[in-house]
Amino acid sequence: MVSTNDQLEALELFQGQSLLYTHMYASLKPMSLKCAVQLNIPEIIYNHGKPITLPDLVSTLKVPLAKSSLVKRLMRFLAHIGIFAIHGKGEDDHDQTYALTPASKLLSKSCSKDHCLTPMVLMCTDPIFMSLFHQLGDLIHGEVPNLSEGALGVTLWEFLEEKPAYSSLFNEAMASNSQMVSLALKNCSEVFEGIESIVDVGGGNGTTAKIICEAFPKVKCLVFDVPHVVANSSCESQNVSYVGGDIFKSIPKADAIMLKSILHDWSDENCIKILKTCKDSVSSKGRKGKVIIIDILINEKDDEKDITQQNLIMDISMMAFDGGKERTEKEWKHLFIEAGFKDYKIFPLFSYESLIEVYP
Ligand SMILES: C[S@@+](CC[C@H](N)C(=O)[O-])C[C@H]1O[C@@H](n2cnc3c(N)ncnc32)[C@H](O)[C@@H]1O
Repeated sequence: MVSTNDQLEALELFQGQSLLYTHMYASLKPMSLKCAVQLNIPEIIYNHGKPITLPDLVSTLKVPLAKSSLVKRLMRFLAHIGIFAIHGKGEDDHDQTYALTPASKLLSKSCSKDHCLTPMVLMCTDPIFMSLFHQLGDLIHGEVPNLSEGALGVTLWEFLEEKPAYSSLFNEAMASNSQMVSLALKNCSEVFEGIESIVDVGGGNGTTAKIICEAFPKVKCLVFDVPHVVANSSCESQNVSYVGGDIFKSIPKADAIMLKSILHDWSDENCIKILKTCKDSVSSKGRKGKVIIIDILINEKDDEKDITQQNLIMDISMMAFDGGKERTEKEWKHLFIEAGFKDYKIFPLFSYESLIEVYP
């Protein structure tokens, strides 16, 4: 007879197996998402004007009928994880329809307008980007300084400079994320009150600068980034201009410096160097300026589990960069104090990022 203890032990092992399998196969989530994006399914559903049946979807996709069950299985899985919704319970393919959810609306350019996250999906699922994470063990053993140098032999910034197509993919992905932040920035008028000039350090193609200048027309924004990124960027707004440079050398003077998704790319040592240069910029000529940071703030105690999980995944992702990491409030405060700042204020945004004002 099997004892109760043996049964409990077996139950625990099966639960462990289930958890392991859930995570081992989790890489098929982004792969399935990428497939839906490449097949243009979110756009097809939006253009259809109403939830779409499988036969209509298959016909629009021009998929051979023999393959329609693959589309059905892909949609069933993506609906199960919340990317699409399935309406109707019938067994017949004509009785069920597929609809967009808030997540897949963000993958249709026509539906989401400025907030389309398709470039982010394409960057995160790119084979080269994904290949970096095979080096985690080497990073932990100290055999490589960071994931990108382990996998590509160069830092991510050097790789992007050498490969213009990747640089565009990266910059478009960053810009699509910035468009989301614009939804929250518009509500942050107190942050931009009284500011006439901002330097958006590492501002990429200028998407955030454009959003700020549109929302706050009295602000002039200078986008500061490495020369090859600046050379390929432009913006129609008269209040946005560009300059190439290196954050470790000098940063133009302004009332405020914006650092959006910058400091999480760098080690504490490099962040302190960057922050000291920013402090000089906003305190010159008697200015009483500030640094505006938009980045992740890990708060395991108060955040919902899903938000923390995403922040911790991003922390692993930052291992692609030399010393890059996501930080808790205590870790942020340490950087501010070491760089000579006196005070800071945190504004949680709607997304998983926070805005932190730092005062010299
Ligand atoms: C993670 S991206 C963030 C882009 C943008 N702030 C955003 O949130 O969309 C980091 C940016 O820092 C820039 N960058 C990297 N090293 C730099 C350096 N040494 N000097 C100036 N910019 C740099 C990159 O080219 C890139 O545009």
